[in-house]
Amino acid sequence: MKSAIIGCGRIAHIHALALLANSDVQLIACADINKAKADDFADKYSLKPYASMGELINEEHPDVLHICTPHYLHADMAIEALRQGIHVFLEKPAAMDRLSFEKLMLAEQASQTQIGVCFQNRYNDSVVYLREKQQSGHFGKALGARCFVTWRRDADYYADEWHGRKALEGGGALINQAIHTMDLLVLLLGTPVDVQCSMHNRHLKDIIEVEDTVEAYIRFPTCNALFYASMAHCTDAPIFLEISYEKACVRLIGDELSIKYFDGTLQSLEKSEVVPLGKSYWGTSHRLCIEDFYQCVNQGRNFPITPDSIKPTMDLVYGCYEAAESNTTISPTQERT
Ligand SMILES: NC(=O)c1ccc[n+]([C@@H]2O[C@H](COP(=O)([O-])OP(=O)(O)OC[C@H]3O[C@@H](n4cnc5c(N)ncnc54)[C@H](O)[C@@H]3O)[C@@H](O)[C@H]2O)c1
Repeated sequence: MKSAIIGCGRIAHIHALALLANSDVQLIACADINKAKADDFADKYSLKPYASMGELINEEHPDVLHICTPHYLHADMAIEALRQGIHVFLEKPAAMDRLSFEKLMLAEQASQTQIGVCFQNRYNDSVVYLREKQQSGHFGKALGARCFVTWRRDADYYADEWHGRKALEGGGALINQAIHTMDLLVLLLGTPVDVQCSMHNRHLKDIIEVEDTVEAYIRFPTCNALFYASMAHCTDAPIFLEISYEKACVRLIGDELSIKYFDGTLQSLEKSEVVPLGKSYWGTSHRLCIEDFYQCVNQGRNFPITPDSIKPTMDLVYGCYEAAESNTTISPTQERT
């Protein structure tokens, strides 16, 4: 299959490395609005560089397009690629706001080609194991959860043209960084019932328009979750996600899973031996997620992480912003008029 990448920034390198390691894929081209970046990226991976998605599609018509651009471009670019009969592997967030997410879902439903969304942490060994055990009823009912995502993002991270700007990034700590952990929470606990949330800018006042800190109280069908994320920490600490079940307390710290059964047994799952392709907090599973997407496309199977399938996560993310802005409790999945 012929593939191409749009947006030759930080994360595009991880996609390129994953694609070059996949013998079913021929990575042929890249595009960036900053042509010098496209040229450098193309040199590094022996690709054809373009200055726009339109030019790339017209000239190359790839089978799969990887969208690694700023958030405000995701939905429109993905919809355009689908319209041209191209499969899309889309970086998170699938869309920056509710309206563009709805449009994306409609376009996907009407399309013969697939969209895969990059929630790579769903492929972490620890998460796969935890999910299987939970689904089999091994731990009993979930009684409560707590999550912490405490990383460091400084002014230099926000020095480019789009990070930190509400209209271009859609938000900060939540929609950009903590979205992965919120997605795992939804994956494990189900569609949220309602959410209360507050957002703050603790350490980058006058530098960014978006939140660097978010706190939420989320009601799920069987239990509640306490969620805290802040980009004002001194370092990128491993994420912490803990669920108390009837029979055990389960802790995910980074990629390491430990299970404390209430009969006194302790179990820990060793850290994945896969070496990360990029920064440690991006996790190790981009390659696995991308490989699975290509296998699904090749075999005509549905990839599990589509816009439709992640609607509960995205509803919760948008619901958190709405709850924080209105200072009310929001039912994230409730039909909007
Ligand atoms: N899954 C993960 O763990 C993970 C990690 C980091 C980033 N990301 C996501 O990847 C995406 C890109 O993030 P990044 O950190 O690489 O950003 P970046 O700013 O480093 O790269 C974005 C690139 O897109 C280019 N671009 C902007 N407008 C364009 C246009 N109209 N056409 C073509 N190119 C255009 C920019 O010039 C830039 O080179 C974001 O959605 C981000 O949230 C995901």
